[in-house]
Amino acid sequence: MPVATIITERLTLRPIAENDAAGLHAAYGDPLAMRFWDYPATDGLEATAGHIRRWLGHDPHWHGVWAIVTRTGAFAGMINYHHREDWNRRLELGWILAPAFWRRGVMTEAARGVVDHCFAALDVHRIEATIDPDNVASRRLAERLGFREEGLMRDRACVEGEFRSLLMYGLVKGA
Ligand SMILES: CC(C)(COP(=O)(O)OP(=O)(O)OC[C@H]1O[C@@H](n2cnc3c(N)ncnc32)[C@H](O)[C@@H]1OP(=O)(O)O)[C@@H](O)C(=O)NCCC(=O)NCCS
Repeated sequence: MPVATIITERLTLRPIAENDAAGLHAAYGDPLAMRFWDYPATDGLEATAGHIRRWLGHDPHWHGVWAIVTRTGAFAGMINYHHREDWNRRLELGWILAPAFWRRGVMTEAARGVVDHCFAALDVHRIEATIDPDNVASRRLAERLGFREEGLMRDRACVEGEFRSLLMYGLVKGA
């Protein structure tokens, strides 16, 4: 099943496309926005476009990516699911906005739309987010969405040779 378009009060979440590279680059090319990502900021538009091409090559059943677009048509950022496991009815979310869109409730609204979609349309029971303990914005966002902090996973990610420990956040349907 292809990635479905989701409409929220102020936003449209639609499948990301290769011509979203310039919009995504405002986030992916920004070292501050990418500080807690599991790979470094890209060094040019072509590298950002390469990530989009790679995502579009994935089976949307286990990895889906939405562009977050405002009512005026501006590309604000992206939200994705990955590691979707049917047999466990579980997936993991990732989220990033261009800095110009931070702290306006954009990701709260986008992620709520995606969480509802995962529970209702994708038959998911558990949603996970792995978050760096220093990533205050992302932790606060997860808490606002109802995720529960479940523990620290030591050396969970390796970014440019450096291991990072990550917190597991979980959201269980109906709990
Ligand atoms: C994490 C991120 C997506 C949050 O998006 P956002 O749209 O700015 O978040 P919202 O405005 O919906 O805010 C959600 C909550 O987080 C809080 N928050 C957001 N940014 C914050 C910050 N820099 N410091 C402290 N709290 C912050 C908000 O106050 C709100 O909580 P509240 O309702 O209790 O006040 C955004 O900061 C981002 O793109 N960061 C870089 C990418 C990243 O780290 N992704 C996650 C990797 S795990």
